[in-house]
Amino acid sequence: MEIIIQPSAEAATSVAARIIAKLLRAKPAAVLGLATGSTPLLLYRGLIAMKLDWRKVTTFNLDEYVGLPPEHEQSYHSFMWENLFRHVNIAKKNVHIPDGMSRNIATFCTQYEAKIRSAGGIDLQVLGIGTDGHIGFNEPTSSLSSRTRLKTLTRQTHRDNARFFGSADKVPHHVITMGLGTILEAREIILLAFGAKKARAIAATVEGPLSAINPASVLQWHPQVKVCLDAAAAKKLKRADYYHWVYANKPDWQQY
Ligand code: GLP
Repeated sequence: MEIIIQPSAEAATSVAARIIAKLLRAKPAAVLGLATGSTPLLLYRGLIAMKLDWRKVTTFNLDEYVGLPPEHEQSYHSFMWENLFRHVNIAKKNVHIPDGMSRNIATFCTQYEAKIRSAGGIDLQVLGIGTDGHIGFNEPTSSLSSRTRLKTLTRQTHRDNARFFGSADKVPHHVITMGLGTILEAREIILLAFGAKKARAIAATVEGPLSAINPASVLQWHPQVKVCLDAAAAKKLKRADYYHWVYANKPDWQQY
């Protein structure tokens, strides 16, 4: 894992944006895995401002709430179109977001996995992290080799996400999410985390044991993960000095 600690969320985001821009320039038909939540908002704003060419890009989103139609203002469909897709020249047919209204969720999930495979797999997956260490909606005790499937939110995630819905009783209990095994197949992964409330989950992810109780720790298994943090999210890392040292001494050819 490469741990990149920056003074602010803006600075950490700009490292991630540069990596993604470089990929899209080198591979115009890249396949991106995308995340929702407040964390990647700055990233999407940055990518829009870079005016990249998205014509041939394909995207797969991590997750969606079950029971929310795409036009619902809190659906991840709405989120992605509002915050990224409608501002870039992506082809609608290349955008994939799990269908929360699917009548047969198991079949839908199998087909979603097949679509990722037939697109050639995900080149770069963007991730945020929940306060309980979830990525996508893979809650604690998710199988480390899980695939796209139906999950039930924990009470904590349900509470955490109530802020977007106005009240907790409006938050769906069920979601469709790519599995941890699905995420691990991406060729490259960027995990973003900002703010003190993510510090515990980040310390467990980077320096804790690999364990299903902290699902993001499965990223230790992946050969190409960059963890882009602001200072607050990095606060509980015991080896922060080392991560700063590594970043400050990167060879030129490895600079972002
Ligand atoms: C949701 C999403 C995750 C996201 C998490 C953190 O649960 N399914 O993909 O990482 O929220 O959200 P935020 O970035 O708003 O803290």
